[in-house]
Amino acid sequence: MKYLAIINLVLTVVLYPGLQGAHFRFTNFQCSSMDTQFVEVKKCFLKMVRRNVVGMNLHLAIKYDQPINKVQINLIIFRKSNVYRQFLVNHTIDFCYYMRRPEKYPIFFMFHESLMDATNANHTCPYTEKDIYVRQMTFNDRTVRDLLSFLPEGEYKLVVFVGAFGVWRLQFNIYGRSD
Ligand SMILES: *[C@@H]1O[C@H](CO)[C@@H](O)[C@H](O)[C@H]1NC(C)=O
Ligand SMILES: *[C@@H]1O[C@H](CO)[C@@H](O)[C@H](O)[C@H]1NC(C)=O
Repeated sequence: MKYLAIINLVLTVVLYPGLQGAHFRFTNFQCSSMDTQFVEVKKCFLKMVRRNVVGMNLHLAIKYDQPINKVQINLIIFRKSNVYRQFLVNHTIDFCYYMRRPEKYPIFFMFHESLMDATNANHTCPYTEKDIYVRQMTFNDRTVRDLLSFLPEGEYKLVVFVGAFGVWRLQFNIYGRSD
């Protein structure tokens, strides 16, 4: 018990100040529609928000004319090292369910505030918007803190597949570096 408390104290003292100044910077962002009849990618780019801070921008045009009430998200996280890609996470969720109880999915919830602050898809299903935007999304302090609490610093690739009605429609590759 005492031993654990000491380890905990050491970790807190040693790591916490480090995490305070931690950053995650996007280095590349690729988007592709796997079904252009359903959704088209109009814009997909990174743009400087301020010094050392890069924002992610996305504009999707939805071609489907009914409300969308079945959405799946698959998140895959890789960490790059010199010799190999270490595979860390591969989770799929029912996004409509997730949006009703986001805190039940810690891995996705890490990104929740950062994403919701930047998108008009900031509500529960159904989605009736014909245009979905993400504007200058950055990972806020909380996202970075949570990310680094279970992932070591390094170069990352996040692959996000988005499906609707059980069919994969979009793929995003997000590259970034934490330090
Ligand atoms: C992720 O898991 C799904 C099954 O849940 C599998 O089909 C897919 O190939 C996996 N992807 C990777 C990169 O391992
Ligand atoms: C969702 O985003 C829109 C603009 O993108 C904003 O007007 C609205 O207040 C936001 N809603 C919530 C619940 O945050």
